[in-house]
Amino acid sequence: MSGPNPKPRGETLLRLESIQKEYELGETTVRALDGVDLEICRGDYSAILGPSGSGKSTLMHILGFMDQPTGGKMFMGDRDVSRIHRGEQAQLRATEIGFVFQSFNLLSRLSVIENVLLPVEYARRKMEQPDKTAKEMLDRVGLSHRVHHRPSQLSGGERQRVAIARAMINRPRILLADEPTGNLDSRNAANILDLFDRLADEGNTLVLVTHDESIAQRTRRVIRVLDGKVTEEEVER
Ligand SMILES: Nc1ncnc2c1ncn2[C@@H]1O[C@H](COP(=O)(O)OP(=O)(O)O)[C@@H](O)[C@H]1O
Ligand SMILES: [Mg+2]
Repeated sequence: MSGPNPKPRGETLLRLESIQKEYELGETTVRALDGVDLEICRGDYSAILGPSGSGKSTLMHILGFMDQPTGGKMFMGDRDVSRIHRGEQAQLRATEIGFVFQSFNLLSRLSVIENVLLPVEYARRKMEQPDKTAKEMLDRVGLSHRVHHRPSQLSGGERQRVAIARAMINRPRILLADEPTGNLDSRNAANILDLFDRLADEGNTLVLVTHDESIAQRTRRVIRVLDGKVTEEEVER
């Protein structure tokens, strides 16, 4: 039979095995993730899709070293990173992962370029010309004319583009975005999604967390989450 060959997947960056996450709330236990198996490979353009409360943000926090699982294992390459101590977790979070949030999370007292430079400080490793790199990042997201503005002087879409430039500055292995268009009008949302498409085409590894089917339709993989379980994984369109 003829037909397009499935695109080979890149090297495995993160692998989750039977991941559990439980929250203790007084007398009750909330099981936010219940046995999740998942691989994120280099060059993946994925959506984590599910309704509110299904466990998407919890999964993203674990993928991004913002939280630890209460059961199961996570590997980065061959290395078991499921039970590393906090300092090491913070270092991986700062150097390997870029984050984009629904509410942008920019610091209002800092200028655009100062916001973009924050992860360089957090990573505590030397960057050769940080200002030049920050300006390049702002240029890539179409904001080279807004370098010295304050976040309050920008539109929502522009704020999110600053956040994306900030997330990319340390050249993270994986870019994680949690409901990145949730606070945007449809035109700004479309611009941000176009930007993600472009970053994916350039070979970046992106994971978009969303409840919105139309966003998941743009990505190459869809990881469906329901009641803390990954119920379906469509791979490659
Ligand atoms: N810090 C927490 N403490 C207790 N329960 C939590 C906490 N964070 C999330 N949960 C619960 O875990 C489940 C999954 O939450 P979440 O991952 O935020 O879902 P989603 O991002 O898909 O809306 C929900 O039932 C939520 O109430
Ligand atoms: Mg969420």
